Amino acid sequence: MEKFPKDFIWGVGSASYQVEGAWNEDGKGENIWDRYCHSPESKVFEHQNADVTIDEYHRFEEDMDWLKELRCNAYRFSISWARILPAGTGAVNPKGIAYYNKLIDGLLARGIQPMVTLYHWDLPVALQDKGGWANREIVDWFAEYARVCFENFGDRVPYWITLNEPTVFTFSGHLLGAVPPCIQSFEQGLYSAHHAMVAHGTVVRLFRKMGLKGKIGFAFDIVPKLPYTDAEEDKKAARLANATTQYFFYEGVTKGKYPKEAIDFYESKGVKLPLQDGDMELVTEKCDFFGLNYYLTQAVRYKKGCGLFDCEYVFRENFPVANAVEWEIDPEGLYDVLKDVQKATNNEVPIIITENGICQDDYCENGEYNDDERLGYIRAHIDVIQKAYSEGVKMAGYVCWCGFDNFEWNNGTNKRFGLIHVDFETQKRTMKKSGKWYREFISKNS
Ligand code: GAL
Repeated sequence: MEKFPKDFIWGVGSASYQVEGAWNEDGKGENIWDRYCHSPESKVFEHQNADVTIDEYHRFEEDMDWLKELRCNAYRFSISWARILPAGTGAVNPKGIAYYNKLIDGLLARGIQPMVTLYHWDLPVALQDKGGWANREIVDWFAEYARVCFENFGDRVPYWITLNEPTVFTFSGHLLGAVPPCIQSFEQGLYSAHHAMVAHGTVVRLFRKMGLKGKIGFAFDIVPKLPYTDAEEDKKAARLANATTQYFFYEGVTKGKYPKEAIDFYESKGVKLPLQDGDMELVTEKCDFFGLNYYLTQAVRYKKGCGLFDCEYVFRENFPVANAVEWEIDPEGLYDVLKDVQKATNNEVPIIITENGICQDDYCENGEYNDDERLGYIRAHIDVIQKAYSEGVKMAGYVCWCGFDNFEWNNGTNKRFGLIHVDFETQKRTMKKSGKWYREFISKNS
């Protein structure tokens, strides 16, 4: 198999709300995850919040040393919008700018390239109170925020990601109500999804206009829904499930058209796509890389009246299940996705795996965290990436989710994805077996 090139990106990822803590310090505004976790309606494990989480806001120097210890040449992190613009628009918080400047400079000084996500789900509440992603004005709000980030950090950041996993904050947040802003509305589901894509394209265009020298893309999650059997109704169910979730965005950017099944579904609920002239040109604005978050595949079976889309998820035989999260592990599924992206982008756009990893409950033996399941998972997925790369798929990097155990959204601190263990009581960091393996692997491959 072809060896990975010397400049291949080997990184780990994080998101501001999951790692920073310091939720109300140094002028930071409140965001929708702060508000949700503090409210009685929160569905988070044990009603936890990320007020402190792994305290990266105060411990970033130590954490950057850990990243260096991991031999990473990139760190993917997100900027907290409300730390930069506490009210979402308007006044800039100098202390927020100072924090990210220190982080960016500290990474560069250690030979680690910053990969910055502009939006990883933590919208300032001031904007949610004006309708958030369901309000078309979000396109301007997001562009204003992005401009502040580009002006302040654009001279040093080589990789920018506009949005992380739009499926989660649009459909899960506005249609299913599973995560903030916890709304259940067909109209807001579709509107927020389309506005997110228009906002993404607007910011890519702004980036070009400002003449920044870095690269810009997105981080889409792809969880292929595969028909459980060959029956036509299962195939149709899988297609609808894909079209109304991740493939909505995927087909939007690669085909310039949202899936017909999704549009028909919303029309059957009386909701029309709020399309304006020029929108799809924005949605398909050319990116420098295709950021892909990949974890698993799922099988779908038709079942009338089940859920919103008349289908249910079924476990398949012969797929190992990651017990801690009940995900069916499918590295070959990643191979199929990579081939699909290659085709959809004419192999012109390099692919960066912007997230991949697995939850495993830790067990400690003589002070060692032996997370063999995680190690095997990561190795198997990197093998597949190498295979695809050897066959000519344009691959540019791999970012493992994640560096440090952290606040795993609705699962709180109950689910751990880190290569580095964090004791949430003492804040002590300890490298796990998977981290040691990743370090050795990177050393041999860069
Ligand atoms: C992704 C998300 C990350 C992380 C990961 C592990 O969906 O972008 O923030 O939580 O899942 O579950």
